[in-house]
Amino acid sequence: MNWENIYTHAVQWVEEAGERIRLSFDKTLNIETKSNPNDLVTNMDKEIEQFFINKIRETFPGHKIMGEEGFGDEIQSHDGVVWLIDPIDGTMNFIHQQRNFAISLGVFENGIGKIGLVYDVVHNEMYHAMRGKGAYLNEKPIPKLEETTVKEAIIALNATWVMKNHRIDHNLLIPLVREARGTRSYGTAALEIIFVATGRVDAYISMRLSPWDFGGGSVIVEELGGVVTNLRGEKPDFLSKDSLLVAKPGLHQTILNEYLKDGKW
Ligand code: IPD
Ligand code: CA
Ligand code: CA
Repeated sequence: MNWENIYTHAVQWVEEAGERIRLSFDKTLNIETKSNPNDLVTNMDKEIEQFFINKIRETFPGHKIMGEEGFGDEIQSHDGVVWLIDPIDGTMNFIHQQRNFAISLGVFENGIGKIGLVYDVVHNEMYHAMRGKGAYLNEKPIPKLEETTVKEAIIALNATWVMKNHRIDHNLLIPLVREARGTRSYGTAALEIIFVATGRVDAYISMRLSPWDFGGGSVIVEELGGVVTNLRGEKPDFLSKDSLLVAKPGLHQTILNEYLKDGKW
C-alpha cells in the first residue's frame, strides 16, 4: 500500500473541499433536519461528502467508505482500507456561526488508523498525521503531549452530560467538573479532539459519537501520545457509536480510575 500517495491525495481533496465550503458562505444554505429538530444537515454536508466519495472511488476503487450522510458503503467490518468521513463536523456551528466546524477524515487499514486529517476551514488550519510520521499543523510539527493533573486541566465536555441524562449518571461527572481548572464546550468533536492534540484543552469527554466524528482526530492525537478510549477504558471499534474519552497521558488514567470507575455503561 502506498500510504504517501493516499496521504497526498487526501490532503489535496480536503483543501479543495474546504475551498468549496468557503465559497458557500455567500450563498443561501438549504437546511433540513434529520433524527430530531436539532439534528441539522445542509446541502453542503451532502455535497462535500459526495465530492470525497467521487474522488476516492475514482482513485482508489478498492477502498471502502463510511460517511455520515450515508452516500458511502454499508460497512460491516474494518477489513481492508476504510475511509471515515465527516464532511462537516459541527454543522450547527456552521449554520449559526460560520466557524467552529471542521472537515474530518480518517483512513484505516484493518481497523488501525493510518491517516488522520482535520481541517479547520475558517482558519485555514490543516491538522494532519500519518501513523508513525508525526503530526502537523499545516507544515509545523505539533509537539508531543505531556502529563497533567485534573486541577490544572481544562476539560471539554457538553453541558448535557452534567445534567440528568439517560447515558451517564451525571453525579459522576460533577466532581470532575468541580475539581478541574475549567471546562469548555465547542460543539465540534473533531476540533475538540484536536484541541487535546494541541494542548489547548487537556481532555475531551462525550457520551455518544460516531466513528466519523473521531476517526481522523484519533490518529492525530494518538500520534502525539494522547490516549483515546471509550468511557469504559476500551479502544473504540471505529464501526459503531460509542462514548469517548480523549486525554493527555496520565490524565486519561486519572479520569478513568478516579472519576468514572463506578459508571455503568
Ligand atoms: C456533532 C458534533 C458535536 C457532537 C455531536 C456530533 P455533526 O457532529 O461533533 O460536537 O456533540 O455528537 O454529532 O453532526 O455536527 O457532524
Ligand atoms: Ca460529526
Ligand atoms: Ca457532520
